[in-house]
Amino acid sequence: MLTGISACVFDAYGTLLDVRSATGRLAGELGDKADQVGAVWRTRQLEYTWLLSLMGEHRDFWQVTADALDYALDAAGLRGEGLKHRLMERYLSLDCYPDVAPVLAELRRAGLTTAILSNGTPGMLTSGVASAGIADDLDAVLSVEEVGIYKPHASVYQLACDRLGLNRERICFVSSNGWDVAGAAHFGFRTVWLNRLGHTSDRLPGSPKVVLRSLDSLPELVARGDA
Ligand code: 2OP
Repeated sequence: MLTGISACVFDAYGTLLDVRSATGRLAGELGDKADQVGAVWRTRQLEYTWLLSLMGEHRDFWQVTADALDYALDAAGLRGEGLKHRLMERYLSLDCYPDVAPVLAELRRAGLTTAILSNGTPGMLTSGVASAGIADDLDAVLSVEEVGIYKPHASVYQLACDRLGLNRERICFVSSNGWDVAGAAHFGFRTVWLNRLGHTSDRLPGSPKVVLRSLDSLPELVARGDA
C-alpha cells in the first residue's frame, strides 16, 4: 500500500544519465584535459541556464550545452570542430546508471507513475531515453521547453503537476543536483536527493526528505511512505 505518493519524477542529466560519460568516451582524444573539460562543461552548462533565466532570455539546452562546451574546450586550449561535434553527439547517448532500469520497472509494478522532468530539449531527451533503453519504463518525458525557463523556476515543477494531473504533495521528485532538489522541495514536492557523488549539501531554501547514494532502496522507501 503506497501512502500518499502517486508518481516518481526524475531529473535526467546527472541523475539517470551520467554526464561524465561524454568526455569519458573521448578520453583518448582529450588526454589529461578530459576531467577538466568535463567539469567546466557541466558547470558552465548549468550556470548558463541560471543566468539566461535571470536575464529573461531563453536558449534551449542543446544550444546551452554547445555554448558551454565551446567555453570548456577554449579554456583548455583545445580546438577543432570535429572534437566538439563528437562530444555533442556523445551527449545524445549518455550512459544510463545501472540502478535506473530495474528501479523504474519496480516502481511501475507497484502502481506508480514514472516520469522525467528535465532541462533537456525534447529531442535530447528522446534520444537519451532511447539510447538508455528506458523509454518503456516511463509514462512521461517532460522538458522545460514547454515553459521556456529553466529549473529551479517554480513553473517547471508546476509542469509536472499539470501534465500528470497530480497535486504537488503526491509527487516524489528525485535529482542528483542539490540545487534542483532545493527548488523542488521549496515548490512543495516530496524530494529525494540522489547524492551519487557524495557532494556537500547546498545552503538553500528547501531540504530533501531523504538522501540516497543509489536508487536501489527508493521503491521500498516510497512504499513505506518514507519518501
Ligand atoms: C536536468 O534538468 C538539471 O541538467 C539537469 O536534467
